[in-house]
Amino acid sequence: MKGKFITLEGIEGSGKSTSLEHIANTLDKKSIDYILTKEPGSGSLGNELRSLLLSSDNKISGEVELLLMMADRKNHLDSLVIPNLKNGIWVISDRYLDSTYAYQGGGRKMDVALIDELSSSLNLLAPDLTILFDLPVEIALDRAKRRASLDRFEKEPIDFHNRIRNIYKSRAEEDSNRIKIVDSSVSFEEVKAQVEYIISQFLNE
Ligand code: TMP
Repeated sequence: MKGKFITLEGIEGSGKSTSLEHIANTLDKKSIDYILTKEPGSGSLGNELRSLLLSSDNKISGEVELLLMMADRKNHLDSLVIPNLKNGIWVISDRYLDSTYAYQGGGRKMDVALIDELSSSLNLLAPDLTILFDLPVEIALDRAKRRASLDRFEKEPIDFHNRIRNIYKSRAEEDSNRIKIVDSSVSFEEVKAQVEYIISQFLNE
């Protein structure tokens, strides 16, 4: 692929969406063309899949949730990510496959072997860089609760979110070349500096 694929990950309220702006500014300064996308939701079927997945009115099993997330991902890759990367346009995605390991594997306690199997059968592209925004669950949920209304995932109990955080951290330890951790419990300016450092290191590789 000519373009680079960067993904942002973290628990609810971890500040990843806010940091998209810093990443965009850093890439602008280097005159790199990019698009910003998001999972679930940015593929051509995205709006429908996103509302099915996030609506608190939908009572769906872990298996159905996993399959819908994977359907959204495959559609996102086919309709947006791969065509852009092939044209040399970088793709910055707010969430990707690590979210499935963390939320469905950790949060919903689903069989990780099934996620591995789906991921390899669907030939899912590996990101070139993943930035993990990490902070204690209590602080993050407090931030998330200040937003308008809580979705199906944000309403889950604290243990659910702690399992997600733990999976993210263990994946980052196992794949430290790809996954870089940002401590997002600190001030806005300090988070920004960490993000800019990670991106500049990546650009110099
Ligand atoms: P967000 O747009 O606020 O990040 O919300 C997306 C929600 O979907 C968030 O709670 C995490 C969840 N999610 C999964 O459970 N599995 C996945 O694979 C993805 C991409 C998101």
